[in-house]
Amino acid sequence: MIILGIETSCDETAASLVEDGAKIIANIVASSSEMHTKTGGIIPEVAAREQVKSMIPVVSECLSAGKIDISQIDAIGVTIGPGLIGSLLVGTETAKTLSYAWSKPITPVNHLVGHIYANWLDQELPKLPAIALVVSGGHTDLVLMKDHEEIEWIGGTRDDAAGECLDKCARLLDLGYPGGPVIANEAQKFNPTKSELKIKLPRPMLDEDNFDFSFSGLKTAVLREVNNLKINRQGLAVEQLSYEIQEAVTDVLVAKTLRAVQNFQIESVILAGGVSANQRLREKMKIGTEKNKVSLHIPPLKLCTDNAAYIASCAFFNYHPLSWQEISPNPSLTIISRV
Ligand code: KG4
Ligand code: ZN
Repeated sequence: MIILGIETSCDETAASLVEDGAKIIANIVASSSEMHTKTGGIIPEVAAREQVKSMIPVVSECLSAGKIDISQIDAIGVTIGPGLIGSLLVGTETAKTLSYAWSKPITPVNHLVGHIYANWLDQELPKLPAIALVVSGGHTDLVLMKDHEEIEWIGGTRDDAAGECLDKCARLLDLGYPGGPVIANEAQKFNPTKSELKIKLPRPMLDEDNFDFSFSGLKTAVLREVNNLKINRQGLAVEQLSYEIQEAVTDVLVAKTLRAVQNFQIESVILAGGVSANQRLREKMKIGTEKNKVSLHIPPLKLCTDNAAYIASCAFFNYHPLSWQEISPNPSLTIISRV
């Protein structure tokens, strides 16, 4: 079965063709991320206007790249939420129009559940039940995935998401947007074996006996350090702070995931969402899961951040074909909302 995936929940405009939920035929992503670097974050109106311009070219490019005729497509899978309403409307209206014009059913996809399916594409499939850590710009959730369509929420952030924290800290350090990759890049320049780490940041909720996170206090602690140090952009302090921010965020993410591993009978740990591109998180999670003797599944780098391949895969494994009239965006879906 071939599904055309469409994803426009944030600043990406993406289309992908995936066969049987696992084989990527084509995967095209256009991003307006560079425009948001100038403003230090996404301006929703700017993102949506760019998506209106790129949507049809991205779908056309996807069809040509996949050398697929429209008659070979069985269904369309589209992100209906969560996300920015203007952006979601571009994707859902496009999917509805194509569904009507081509007479194909549509399966609505929850973007957060979609992220998890980046681990089903072109690689060894995770065994279920699994603990999935979904860490993106807007969400940080720990779920117990018993099976497809059987996801239980066990914990999540009480305030800022991990990616949001990295983005806000990068802004405080005047490093640009998106924050995760720029902080990782600065952090790499600091070598703790050669220089003394003079900055210590909190690990919020690390020792609490639950599966929840809190990252807003970390951001405030960084603001205090920035004000204290009156750092300049190139100074060692930026590298030290970036290093310690990355250590603090990843320490908590790994500790809470492993706490969940020890609490539930599971086969694997699944990482998903834009922050799962972080090398330090990957390293620490690998060590932790090896110690706990569970397999770890991490998407290839290009599938961690927003794209439509995992949307098409999720549509295949959670297939509920609807007609175009039944599809509408819902910006405030949670990871366990039924779509
Ligand atoms: O999943 P995603 O592409 O979009 C949302 O659904 O939010 O995630 C974007 C987030 C941003 O906060 C960005 O800073 C973070 O993922 N991110 C990273 C890395 N690449 C992207 N965080 C840490 N390390 C990275 N290499
Ligand atoms: Zn995402």
